[in-house]
Amino acid sequence: MAEIRFLGHAGFLLTDTGKERLLFDPFISDNPTAPVRTEELKADYILVTHGHADHLGDAYEIAKNNEATIISTAEIARQAESEGLKAHAQHLGGRHRFPFGSVKLTLAFHGAGIPGGHACGFVVDYYGSKIYFAGDTALFSDMKLIGELDPLELALLPIGDNFTMGIDDAVIAASFLQSRVVIPYHYNTWPLIEADPEEFKHKVEQKTGSRCVVVAPGSSYSF
Ligand code: NI
Ligand code: MN
Repeated sequence: MAEIRFLGHAGFLLTDTGKERLLFDPFISDNPTAPVRTEELKADYILVTHGHADHLGDAYEIAKNNEATIISTAEIARQAESEGLKAHAQHLGGRHRFPFGSVKLTLAFHGAGIPGGHACGFVVDYYGSKIYFAGDTALFSDMKLIGELDPLELALLPIGDNFTMGIDDAVIAASFLQSRVVIPYHYNTWPLIEADPEEFKHKVEQKTGSRCVVVAPGSSYSF
């Protein structure tokens, strides 16, 4: 059974027994809600949605510690390579096969955090289960296509408002995506992005066909 562990803010670790470990947007050392220390994290691939410090975070240090491969936009991948790290560059709309399945980069309406770049989201096929990690983004109606093209087991959505979708827009995103399960993130790290995940859960389950699972930092959801 695959397991996704919430590392606080936008950090997630996707694992399965004996299989590759995928780390998403690891913002650990400056994250007041991080349940682990950077040195403790083990990963084979590190997926980075954009260059803002709360997403690129500790990715390079963890990649160095683990000889992990950074998967990101071309701009971030090139920067990682210039730091002497392994990286795989993709760009919006492109899918690539990996030993665990595949990664497709999706649109995300947000700043790149790096000159000339774009922010992205990911659709990851992990041993047959499709997971959408939205990154930091506004609501956009093409999210309908994401769920149509890749029927989703899991959609990870930001709900903290101010920098990303707030609760009500994220509920509409969930209705577009039609994922089996939705997990919220990017809230309550700081007062500026305070949001009630139980309100989100209630609205998702009232207004969409998805189930919402609220995962506390350090806890996991298995599927
Ligand atoms: Ni950002
Ligand atoms: Mn962010």
